[in-house]
Amino acid sequence: KPIFVLNGPNLNMLGTRQPEVYGYDTLADVEAKCRALASEHGHDLVFAQSNHEGEIVELVQRARLEACGIVINPAAYTHTSVAIRDALVTCEMPIFEVHISNVHAREAFRHHSYVSDIATAVIAGLGIEGYMAALRRLVQLV
Ligand code: DQA
Repeated sequence: KPIFVLNGPNLNMLGTRQPEVYGYDTLADVEAKCRALASEHGHDLVFAQSNHEGEIVELVQRARLEACGIVINPAAYTHTSVAIRDALVTCEMPIFEVHISNVHAREAFRHHSYVSDIATAVIAGLGIEGYMAALRRLVQLV
């Protein structure tokens, strides 16, 4: 079964978007690193990004049926989306919430997450290494 790595709005801009906060690696770089790590462990990877809340809901619904685990950076929807949370709650598999930046060291509106209390683990502030840390633990669990 594949691992799903899902990315929310504006993460397609990674590398050029506020590099002082999010770094210079692009989402394609993140995808390549995730694929390398997953394949080392014999796992297929579905890697996706969307700027649309409903599309992320549909990807999570697909993950519920197809995936063995989810790594998700819901980006701004972390702080707003009951719909993505509701979709994730139905997934009986490990769920890793990843943030590139340390959201707790930023604006107050980034301190609350609709996902953290239903996640297996939460990683924030490791840069894009957070995705790999999540994947390394995920492959141990599944
Ligand atoms: C983010 C943090 C969010 O607050 C922000 O809206 C993002 C990216 C991160 O990876 O640090 O778009 O999820």
